[in-house]
Amino acid sequence: PIRLLARRMVTFSIVVPSLAQDLGNGLAALSSDALGVGQAAQACEGSSSDVDGVVGTQALGADVLDAGALEHGTDGAAGQNAGTGGSGTHQDAACAVLADDLVSTLALARNCPLLAAPAMNLQMWSNPATQRNVATLRSDGIALLGPASGDQACGEVGLGRMIEAEEIVEDVVAFFQPKHLAGKCVLMTAGPTFEAIDPVRGITNLSSGKMGFALARAAREAGADVTLVCGPVSQATPRGITRINVASALKMHAEVMQRIAGQDVFIGVAAVADYRPATPSAQKIKKDGSGDVPAMDFVENPDILAGVAQSDQARSGKLYCVGFAAESHDLLKHASAKRLRKSVPLLVGNIGPATFGKDDNALLLIDD
Ligand code: C5P
Repeated sequence: PIRLLARRMVTFSIVVPSLAQDLGNGLAALSSDALGVGQAAQACEGSSSDVDGVVGTQALGADVLDAGALEHGTDGAAGQNAGTGGSGTHQDAACAVLADDLVSTLALARNCPLLAAPAMNLQMWSNPATQRNVATLRSDGIALLGPASGDQACGEVGLGRMIEAEEIVEDVVAFFQPKHLAGKCVLMTAGPTFEAIDPVRGITNLSSGKMGFALARAAREAGADVTLVCGPVSQATPRGITRINVASALKMHAEVMQRIAGQDVFIGVAAVADYRPATPSAQKIKKDGSGDVPAMDFVENPDILAGVAQSDQARSGKLYCVGFAAESHDLLKHASAKRLRKSVPLLVGNIGPATFGKDDNALLLIDD
């Protein structure tokens, strides 16, 4: 995950295991009803004269601290009163901060976004005090990653699990991407299709789904609501994406067509089979020893991209359609012709054999 972050040019901090406890305490403190204003103020005071940035710490701290409690002094008692809804006029304010360890102090002293991945027991998570503080964190612009639902260390099952490390990486990467597609709905196809010959055989192709899945991930990182209709692939579903698995082109076509209403963008990345066996056998076709090969008729599959591009939504300009072309030669010529044939405003060309299953690719974008 760290290599991935580095490759995506994301700056990150590594918390060494011995600080893990501090991290837990720090985040727990951020979501705690208890107010330790005195400690927070002390932590700020102690270093404000030495380091320029720490002046900011105090200011930032004061921003989220209960102002009344700050006025009333820096001893721990003031904090405790505030936490229990004590008598001070300002102490009913929602803000509560305890910054008596490294991580929570750093959380206050930062001038960068803060993301937190909560990890706690389901009762703790659903406790109104926690939820109040979660709302405060969110309204302060702090992003919460998760929690997930599932088995907990205490033996209970429910909401509160920390999301997996890989999911945190995905969310952190997504957080820092410009949100060019915020509020947009993107429908995509990816992978190959599988056209059954009989219950155990079929016709498919070498599409790995990598391109479609990478684009789906990128669209989600750019803020889109992404639905991915995909053929049989072994790609992991990117976080936050609605995935619909299909096998045949007919099924892919049906799933796409019933979802285009309300979409802003359609991207057809799938390598859809052009033809399917006209009458797949209900039983496995057996070799009879005669040496005769079975006869097989084919029918043409619907062109999903062309169909979507001809919809009222696309023709009225409400739905932007993007197609892909995998060619073996004369990329510009063939891809340009394909763009016109499919009536799409943008077609992405690539050299098929140099592309399938690869992590890196070169693309030619052709628009009007
Ligand atoms: O005609 P060709 O298959 O080369 O066109 C490729 C583009 O058309 C891709 O965007 C692919 O997803 C889309 N396509 C489709 N339905 C088909 C065939 C291709 O959506 N039946």
